[in-house]
Amino acid sequence: MKGIRLCGSGAAVPRLRVSNDDLSARVETSDEWIRTRTGIAARRVADESESLTSLAAAAGQQALQNAGWDASSVDLILLATSSPDDLFGSAPKVQALIGAGSAVAFDLTAACSGFLFSLVTAAQYLRTGAMTRALVIGADQLSRWVDWDDRRSCVLFGDGAGAVAIEACPAENDGLLGFRLNSDGARGDCLTLAQTSERAELLPGMSHQRGGYAPIGMNGQEVYKFAVREVPAILKQLLADTNTEAASIDWLLLHQANQRILDAAAERLGIAADKVLSNLANYGNTSAATIPLMLHEAVSDGRIQSGQLIASSGFGAGLSWGAALLRWDGPTS
Ligand code: UT7
Repeated sequence: MKGIRLCGSGAAVPRLRVSNDDLSARVETSDEWIRTRTGIAARRVADESESLTSLAAAAGQQALQNAGWDASSVDLILLATSSPDDLFGSAPKVQALIGAGSAVAFDLTAACSGFLFSLVTAAQYLRTGAMTRALVIGADQLSRWVDWDDRRSCVLFGDGAGAVAIEACPAENDGLLGFRLNSDGARGDCLTLAQTSERAELLPGMSHQRGGYAPIGMNGQEVYKFAVREVPAILKQLLADTNTEAASIDWLLLHQANQRILDAAAERLGIAADKVLSNLANYGNTSAATIPLMLHEAVSDGRIQSGQLIASSGFGAGLSWGAALLRWDGPTS
């Protein structure tokens, strides 16, 4: 079995920035409440000229450039998203925009865990030798599915995209040191973006379901409790699986949902606060995009250096959650 090298990153966010103060003109909230309860100060929202596909392609293109790859050398594009422009899949459009004519491209949906699930999935094609180079993109445009009149959820989400280029390498240089993935559909009702049940007449006496989705429904406290329990637990299991001391982790890279969740997880794991990566203040929760967006930012500003160890965990709707122990091996600033 081969190893996996994480060798390039990219990101793209919409131009439009919506601050907490902007939002308080629409719903009864305040900058103080949102900052204290979540750590979020602003989020980005796609405008008419931007789309899930264009953001994902821009992030992917940048990851290719940073890896020093030609688009034609990519074998696989996995697009983690829960908000595709087309329910048949947006990855093929991304493939066309990037010009990766030899790559097979498809979507993978696992909400906020989508990027890690996709990274691990793509890695399997590389490990077996079936493919050599993959682009793993996490992108979401939840602004179109948020109920902007529901202050309990609308303050949390934003749009964005991030990408990582991975390639097969000798097993001794493996940058995916371990992973764990979990799902629990029995607890899934606390976070949904579900079909509406509206029906329309097909023929006299026959009906069909009309397509359409209700806005995001969320029981914030349930999701919060799930995250602070499961994220430290899965990371502890992963560290045990891989015989890794918490002290040897260089960075904790969690799904960016709420600063209090990041802080609680770090404390339970005994990881120092200055090793916790966070860009929640600028982007809020961009769902499948948070982990690669944060990774790219920390690689670009020189915090993450080649050879460093990153403990990562994604969690969210499904319910789904996962963790991976990664070693960055790409260019650093
Ligand atoms: O990818 C996963 C996505 N989901 C999440 O990450 C959600 C995880 N959960 C959370 O982050 C937190 O539960 C929230 C940030 C959503 C809420 O924080 P909380 O500390 O759990 O607040 P709460 O729901 O207990 O609400 C406390 C109070 C309530 O008022 P009362 O009933 O005490 O009078 C809410 O109505 O805060 C009120 N409230 C707000 N006030 C101002 C709820 N949302 C807001 C708001 N602005 N935006």
